[in-house]
Amino acid sequence: MFQTQKTIENHRPQPGNQLRPGLEGVPVTQSSICDIDGNHGKLTYRGYPISELAAHSSFLETSYLLIWGNLPTAEELKVFEKEVQMHRRVSFRVRDMMKCFPATGHPMDALQSSAASLGLFYSRRAIDNPQYIYDAVVRLIAKIPTMVAAFQLIRKGQDPIQPRDDLAYSANFLYMLTDREPDPLAARIFDRCLILHAEHSLNASTFSARVTASTLTDPYAVVASAVGTLAGPLHGGANEDVIAMLEEIGSPEKARSYLDEAISNKRKIMGFGHREYRVKDPRASILQGLAEELFARFGKDEMYDVAKALEEEAATSLGSKGIYPNVDFYSGLVYRKLGIPRDLFTPVFAISRVAGWLAHWREQLGANRIFRPSQIYTGVPSRTWKAVEDRPTSIGA
Ligand code: CMC
Repeated sequence: MFQTQKTIENHRPQPGNQLRPGLEGVPVTQSSICDIDGNHGKLTYRGYPISELAAHSSFLETSYLLIWGNLPTAEELKVFEKEVQMHRRVSFRVRDMMKCFPATGHPMDALQSSAASLGLFYSRRAIDNPQYIYDAVVRLIAKIPTMVAAFQLIRKGQDPIQPRDDLAYSANFLYMLTDREPDPLAARIFDRCLILHAEHSLNASTFSARVTASTLTDPYAVVASAVGTLAGPLHGGANEDVIAMLEEIGSPEKARSYLDEAISNKRKIMGFGHREYRVKDPRASILQGLAEELFARFGKDEMYDVAKALEEEAATSLGSKGIYPNVDFYSGLVYRKLGIPRDLFTPVFAISRVAGWLAHWREQLGANRIFRPSQIYTGVPSRTWKAVEDRPTSIGA
C-alpha cells in the first residue's frame, strides 16, 4: 500500500511525532568527529579545516585523528603506520573466496562480501577491550585497499599483487592495482583524495554504520553494512555516474542543452546537490584543484572542459536553489587520471570512508543506545485470517 498524505493523517501522529522522510534535520546522535557549515561551505574534522588537512596531513594521520580524537605524536604515528603496514596482507582464504566471485560482479559487492568475511577470521566480539578495538581499526584500514586491488586483478584473471612494505599506504594501493610503482605526485594526490573522503558526519553509510554498531555486533559487520549503503547512486555511487554523464554530454557546447533537458524532465545532474551544502562543497573545490595539478603534469582529460562548462551553466539554473557540485563531481576525473577503473571509484571512496565509519563505531560504543526509531503505520487496521478455500479467487475481489 502506498503511503499517501491521507493515510498519514488518518493515523494522526502524536504531536512531536511527525513523519520526517529521510530523517532530514532530525538529530539522532551527538558527535564530536566532524562539523559541516553548509551555508558557508566549511568542513572540519575534529576542529581542523579540511583544506589544512588536505594540504598538510596524510591519510593515515587523518584516520588517526578521526578515530582517536587528536593528531598523533610522532611516535604514535610511526607505530600506527607500522601496524597498518604489517596487516596489509589478507588471508589466502579470502583471496580464494574472491576467486569464486563472478568476474562480472560489481567491485562494491565484492568488497562488501570480503569485508564481512573478515568477521569470520577475527570473530571474538570483545568490543569492550581497547586492544580488540585498536586491532580491528588497524586491520580494516590495512586490508580494505588490499581487497579492492585483489578483486580488480582476480576479475581480470590475474593473481593479486602482494603489498610492498617499502611503499607508503597510498603508493602501495596504486602499486597493487596497476603493478607499477606510482609517480610520487600521483601517490600524494591520491592520498589527499583519501583525506577528503574520510569523513562527512551522518551521511547514509555512516548512519548505517552507527545503526549496525548500536547492536554491539563486530566491526567487520559495521563496515560491511556501511559499504553496502555507500554503493547506491544517490551516495558514493554518484562518482561513476558523473563520468558517464560527462561522456554523454560529449563537448562543452552541449552542456547547456543537456542541463535544460535534464531539468525539464526532472532528471538529476549527478555530482550536484547535497543535503547539507547550499554552496559548492569545499571538497569539490579542492578536488578540482587536484585534477588541475594532475592534468598539468600528465595531460588533460577532455571531459574536464565539459565538467567546467556544466558547472558554469548550472550556476544560474541550479545555483539559485542552492544546488552546486558535490564531492563526487570532480573525484571521478581525478581517479580516471590516476588509472583507476570507473567501477572502482566507489570502492576507493570506501577505502577512505572506513576511517570515518570506524570513528563513529568507537563513538557509538562510547554512549550506546540501540537505534530503534518508530514508524507511522499506514496498513490495514485489522482483519481476520481465513482458510485458503474461503478466500476470494482474485486479489481485490
Ligand atoms: N540535479 C537537479 N536537481 C536536483 C539535484 C540535482 N543533482 N539535487 C537536488 N535537486 C533538486 C530536486 O529535484 C528537488 O527539486 P524540487 O524541490 O523542485 O522537486 C530539490 O532539489 C530537492 O532535492 P532532493 O533530492 O529532495 O534533495 P536531498 O537533500 O534529498 O538530496 C542528494 C540530496 C545528494 C540525494 C541529491 O542532491 C541528489 O540526488 N544528487 C545527485 C546524486 C549525487 O550527486 N549524489 C552524491 C551526493 S554527495 C556524496 C555522497 O553523499 O556520497
